[in-house]
Amino acid sequence: MQTRVKVVEVSPRDGLQNEKAEVSTQTKVTLIEMLAKAGIPNVEAASFVSPKWVPQMRDGADVMRDIKRHPHTWYSALTPNLKGYEAAVQAQADEVVIFGAASETFSQKNINCSIAESLERFRPVAEAAHRDRIALRGSISCCLGCPYEGSITPDQVVSVVDRMIDLGCHEIDIADTIGVGTPEKTKRVYEAIASRYALSQFSGHFHDTYGQAIANVYAALEVGVAIFHGSVAGLGGCPYAKGATGNVATEDLVYLLHGLRIDTGIDFDALCAAGAFISEALGKRNQAKAGPAWLSQKSTATNSYL
Ligand code: HMG
Ligand code: MG
Repeated sequence: MQTRVKVVEVSPRDGLQNEKAEVSTQTKVTLIEMLAKAGIPNVEAASFVSPKWVPQMRDGADVMRDIKRHPHTWYSALTPNLKGYEAAVQAQADEVVIFGAASETFSQKNINCSIAESLERFRPVAEAAHRDRIALRGSISCCLGCPYEGSITPDQVVSVVDRMIDLGCHEIDIADTIGVGTPEKTKRVYEAIASRYALSQFSGHFHDTYGQAIANVYAALEVGVAIFHGSVAGLGGCPYAKGATGNVATEDLVYLLHGLRIDTGIDFDALCAAGAFISEALGKRNQAKAGPAWLSQKSTATNSYL
């Protein structure tokens, strides 16, 4: 199995984009700084999308301006079009993320265009990113199922992967947007991708709606995936994917990885503190299992269980 995995933290974006209550810019800044201090190498810090579509992300420029940056951390931003790209560059994002879908209906609901139109819209973003030497990541929603169309085949995913590769994405996220995937389905989609590309540039972005996210991570590890997204306290969800709950909690993900002797460079205790901080700020129950467990036991535990 892999000896090192990159963890991409998506709570400031995927987590907070879905919160009904107003979250202050300062709370977002504190969360991002705690995550970077915990050793997270890549934080999705903002989303430069239409504020009419996702008002929760409208202060992205302020967040990016106010964070104290750590040299070991990349700060990424979602950019659906050139307007978003320009805002992300202005905000000094280290990486921009174009986001499409393997499902036609979800593409329409989320970004108001077909898959083909979205890929045409991403082309100028990709060209600008290459020109400006900014890393370009691609995210593909609904790879394991769609809230509107149901089942999605690995071939549907691979056809979008092909286009994201053509656009020059250095990394591509395989997302289970509504958390319906199972380990078997997860393996099948990566095996289809692996028949054409090296898996080293693909990540796993698993939501936990059906409680399978950590099992899906393990299945993806077994086929060779070495990049995983997590969200502290299990925050997350997409406003255009009804019923979808949070991402796999980063605390649970890191506990699993460290238990497998896979290095992440992350300080587990500091990560758990970030999850506790945002849960308290939101007044929500922490959805992670490992975070609250560790924080309640660490004062009496003589040693880490790992
Ligand atoms: P549209 O309405 O078709 O776009 O939306 P438009 O070009 O006609 O513009 C409409 C208005 O939005 C205009 O303003 C534009 O200026 C403005 P108006 O003239 O009406 O005042 N606008 C923008 N403003 C700020 N930044 C921009 C921008 N672009 C246009 N970049 C659009 C198309 C893509 C903009 C819209 O559908 C949108 O913003 N969608 C975003 C949806 C979203 O953020 N979803 C959540 C993130 S994806 C996700 O969570 C999945 C993921 O986690 C993986 C997974 O789990 O699956 C990544
Ligand atoms: Mg997501």
